[in-house]
Formats: sequence, C-alpha cells, structure tokens
Amino acid sequence: MSEQQVDTGRRRFLTVATSAVGGVAVAGVATPFLMSFFPSERAKAAGAPVEVDISKLEPGQKINVEWRGKPVWLLSRTKQQIADLPKNDPKLVDPKSEVEQQPKYCQNEGRSIKPELLVAVGICTHLGCSPTFRPDLAPADLGPEWLGGFYCPCHGSKFDLAARVFKGVPAPKNLEIPPHKYLSDTRLLIGDDK
Ligand code: FES
Repeated sequence: MSEQQVDTGRRRFLTVATSAVGGVAVAGVATPFLMSFFPSERAKAAGAPVEVDISKLEPGQKINVEWRGKPVWLLSRTKQQIADLPKNDPKLVDPKSEVEQQPKYCQNEGRSIKPELLVAVGICTHLGCSPTFRPDLAPADLGPEWLGGFYCPCHGSKFDLAARVFKGVPAPKNLEIPPHKYLSDTRLLIGDDK
C-alpha cells in the first residue's frame, strides 16, 4: 500500500490508501507473485502503472498520487468549474492543446477523458516546481478574473483547472497529462492506456 494525499485547496491534508499494480513486465525476468500487486520501488520508478480508487473523490476535491516518481493530480471538477473553462481560452497560450502535452483522447476543452476528472502531472513546465492548487475565486493575489487553477510559487506561472498555461508567465507549455484509462467508474489506471 502507498499513500496519496488529499488536497482540499484549504491547506488541509488527509491521507487515504491506494494500491499500485503492475510491474511484472517491467522487470523482464521472473517476478514473485506478490510483486504483481506491489511493485518494487525500482519497478515503480521505471513506470509501473498505478491504480487509484476514485470512489471517495468529491466534486471540487483534489488528490495526489505518485507515478514514475512524479506527483500526479486527480481533480474532481465541479459542474461550475467545467462550465467556466472556456472563459479562460482567450488568456491561454494553447487553449486547444495543440502542443503534444497530452494523449490524443485528452485533446479537448477539459484535457480529460471525462469532463469531471482532470488527471495531470503536477510539475511546472518552466523549471519543474510543483504548482499550488488554488480553486478559490478572485483571490486578492491572483486577481478578479481568476476562476480557479494552479499557481506556481517559484516564478509565478499560472494554469487553469484544465492545467492549461496562461499567457505572460514563464512556463511555456500546458502541464502534461499522463496516459491513463478507467478500469471501472471508480478505478483509474495511471501510466497505461492500452
Ligand atoms: S518553475 Fe514554475 S514558474 Fe518557474
């Protein structure tokens, strides 16, 4: 079992359990039975997919899981947050996600398979800091037009709730969307979409 963080956006963190799967093919040698459920740290670093239970994820809530040593965010967007996404388009560098920062099936307004769930690698495309979740509307430090998003504290890059970068900040590209697929309505696999 590994831990994933729950980030409510209000600086409150909980931990919930998740499990990681895969790893048999990664090693390329005979692998003990248990390894198929709990891959070694080496196998995980090499890219074993991570299975996540999303059944407890509430609208507006974000959780963090680790895949290939990187933070991956799972954000359950509210209906209002989904409806607000197109309002940001004129202010974004790549609103249609034309730069290859996502699988083809996420080349849409929400950059996601289902509009309500964003899955993104939480590493800034400028110099690699991890942006902060800022779902609050029009906060004093981000301005009256802020509809929620992510703010990188290192050099001030801003991303919307589809992880698309705003114009006029140091980060050149949208955040990366990792390959992923739904195993069921409540289980997601990160790192494998085949
Ligand atoms: S690393 Fe994010 S703005 Fe520089």
